[in-house]
Formats: sequence, C-alpha cells, structure tokens
Amino acid sequence: MSSLLLAIDQGTTSTRAMVFDTAGRAVARAQLELPQFFPRPGWVEHDPNIVWQHALQTCRAALAAPEVGGTARIAAIGVANQRETTVLWERKSGAPLAPAIVWQDRRTAERCAALATPANAALVAGRTGLVIDPYFSATKLSWLLDAVPGARERARRGELAFGTIDSFLLWRLTEGRVHATDASNAARTLLFDIHRQAWDDELLALFDIPASLLPEVRDNAGDFGVTTLFGRAIPITGMAGDQQAATVGQACFSPGDVKSTYGTGCFVVQHTGETPVASNNRLLTTVCYRLAGRTSYAIEGSIFVAGAAVQWLRDAVGLIHHAGDTEALAREVPDTGGVYLVPAFTGLGAPYWDPLARGAILGLTRDSGIREIVRAALESVCYQTRDLVDAMRADGAPPPAALRVDGGMVGNDWLMQFLADMLAVRVERPAVTETTALGAAYLAGLGAGLYAGLDEIAANWRLQKAFSPQMDEERREALYLGWHNAVRRTLSGAT
Ligand code: G3P
Repeated sequence: MSSLLLAIDQGTTSTRAMVFDTAGRAVARAQLELPQFFPRPGWVEHDPNIVWQHALQTCRAALAAPEVGGTARIAAIGVANQRETTVLWERKSGAPLAPAIVWQDRRTAERCAALATPANAALVAGRTGLVIDPYFSATKLSWLLDAVPGARERARRGELAFGTIDSFLLWRLTEGRVHATDASNAARTLLFDIHRQAWDDELLALFDIPASLLPEVRDNAGDFGVTTLFGRAIPITGMAGDQQAATVGQACFSPGDVKSTYGTGCFVVQHTGETPVASNNRLLTTVCYRLAGRTSYAIEGSIFVAGAAVQWLRDAVGLIHHAGDTEALAREVPDTGGVYLVPAFTGLGAPYWDPLARGAILGLTRDSGIREIVRAALESVCYQTRDLVDAMRADGAPPPAALRVDGGMVGNDWLMQFLADMLAVRVERPAVTETTALGAAYLAGLGAGLYAGLDEIAANWRLQKAFSPQMDEERREALYLGWHNAVRRTLSGAT
C-alpha cells in the first residue's frame, strides 16, 4: 500500500487539509472559510479556537474521503500556516488569552514608529533581515502582554506560551507535549537571528519579550512530535510558513528560482542560496528553509492585499457576486480608462512599508463603471508584483527566467496574461496550484524519510500552462507609470 501525506494549510482566510501521494498528486481535500474580525479600523483578528477547530474538522473530512480511507496509509503530517499572526496561550489549559493578532493588523504602527530609530533599524535588519513594521510578530506580542491584565507577570512566571499559528496548532495536535516552531516561521517574528539561527537576547530586550514564552526552533523537516487525535499515532514531520512551503511546493531549490503566491496577499520569494543577501531596496531577507541544520535563504517581497481586493469588491462593495466573475468583467473592456485601484487597505508592504497609507480608487471619469474598477483591482495585483520584481533586480538579482505562480487567483487566465505582460517575464502555472499544502506535504515526506532529497521532489513539478509576454514596451511602461503616480497619492506623507 503506497504512503500518503496529510497537509494542513492554515491560511489567512481559509483552512484546508489535503492528502497527497508521494508523487505530489492531490488525493483529497477539505476546506473551511475562516471568520475575520475587524474590531477597529486597522485591526484584524482571528479566534484561535476556531482556527484549531477548522484544522481538526478539515483533517477529519480529508481523511474520511473514500480515496484516502482513514489514517492507515498516512505516513506523516505537514503544517503550513499564515505567518507572523500571533497567539498567546496558557500552558496549563492551552486556552488563548486573547484573539490572535493577524499579520495584517496595524495596531502597533505607532509603537513601531517610536522604535524605528536608525540604530534599531540597523540592528533589526542585520539580525533578522526584516524591517520594523507592525506586520511582524514582536510588537503584536508585546501589545498583547500589555493589554491582557496580568499577562506580563504570568509570562515571567513561565505560565504562558507564544507562538505563530504553526506552533499553536502543533501544541494542540500534540495535546501540549510540543512547543516548537520551525526556522522559517521564527524568521518572521523580529526576534530571531537568521545568521546564528537562534532567538536573540538584544531583540527580546528591544521588544520587551520574556524568553520564557518562546518555542523551540526546529528544521523544516524532522521530528515535531506525534498526534493521536485521528485514531492512531501519526508523526508530524514537516512545518513551514506558508510562503516558504509554497517555495518548496514550486521546487524553487536553486539560487535565482522565484515563485509568487496569490492568496489573501501576494508574496514573491526568490531563493538566494546558503548565504543571506541583504536588500538595498526594502525587500526582506528571510529563511527559505532549513534542512538537516543547513539554512537556505531567500529575498522576499510581501504585498498585503491581492486576493483580498477581490474579496473586498465582493463583500464590502458588492460589485461582484463571485470572485470568479472578475475574469469575464476584465475582458469586457480594452483597458481601465485610466482608473487605478491602490488596495492599501492595511497600509502598503514592500517596497513602500507605509503602515498608514490607505486605499484609493483614482482616475475615475463619468465613463468608469464596474468593469473598469474590477479590472483595476486585478491590474493592481500585477503592478505590485512588478514593484517587487523590479526591487529584486535593483538588488542585483538576475531577471527571472520564469515566474512560477500559485494560489487561489492564478486560475484567472486574464490576470496571468496581464502579469506576464507587466513583468515582461514568462509566467508558469503548475499542475498543482495548491502549492502551499503540497510544500507542507513534501516537507513532511522529507522528514519521514520518504524522499531521498530535494531532486526527487523537483522531478514531480509539472507545468499546466505558460503565459508569454505580449504587450509592447511603450504601453507597459505607460501603464506602470500611471500606477506609480497613483501609489504616490496614497502614501501617508502625500498631500
Ligand atoms: O505573511 C503572511 C502570509 O503568510 C499570509 O499568507 O496565503 O494567508 O495570504 P496567505
């Protein structure tokens, strides 16, 4: 009987469990939408108990699929997760002390601004590869310790645990036996020295975080404990932040390989090899993966709103009924007629890093309608990707031979063509676009000894469709210039 791998992909807006065979083919899947809470402007929260219940329910549903037939063939479990989102829980009961503060949450913008002296910024960039921004976990955790009565005192007494979602799920899966994370998730906290691969005392002091809260940091593939919640003991042997998991799922294993994932946000990750490369263009240096104690690094550009712009058009504005409607609407018009939508709903990420920027629709005329606005929303995803790829080039990265894409939005052929046109780069869509879950499964398979090495995983990658650039340069650059002008008007310093 051939082995199967169970992957949990706990994303920002949904939780899915998928079962793969070792050739990387999806055998079963189950998914639940995650409720979002926006208690104040700029705040975004999740209920950790719902996150956990959904993880459990989707795993059970995927395991119950007839093609899977229960747990007998499941060799191991892998976990991928929305990164940075911060959970604080009680060790004794496993109960969260407060809602999880989601990566998109901007409540600590002022705290970050106060901390971001040139000396601190240099310290943080040097050790973590990151910038001081509310996006990352440290100021969220510090905020929670201040906001929850008695939390600092209890943390000092060792009664509390901090984790990103991976850690929290692992704690629940192992019923409190394992408090661990992996190097890719640790790298997103602002507390982890990516060169020494260790929590950093100076950073803990800077952000006022007691070390007693922290999980142990492990390789991305290896022993994360065992769960018995599905009827028999199953080892958990893979873990990674979702963007790094997608990088593995896309088989970006060589320096220069680059992938872009279009989920809630958009994250472009380029493998840079075993030496970290510092960015001069406000990109992040981060851990790509750590296997058998050896760290591969990446340069990353993080955009906060991609698919979430379409969700906003559907849920908040009611311009469309289904996300899938956007492709036909965009095709109905030859262009947006000069309309730009800057989806800075939660500030702007790379390369702008402006937490106070706010979204805008610009260039409206009496002719502008739903189709132009929808098309502008899709185009904004491509312009933002172009911002990142340009920044990577400015950092000295060679122009990518191809961009491997994945995530919920990449089924939209119009969007993929516009992306290829805007980047002047071939865009490659793989056969499996749930690459995050696939990467988590691969890591679990590596950790369980089912693969000899990364080459075996890379051999599974299959192209489904490629999109070649067709737009002439003059049009491309004119459109992109318009985007820059629009962004400039949304920045917090703009008048
Ligand atoms: O850094 C945040 C990222 O990990 C969230 O990913 O797929 O939930 O948009 P996603």
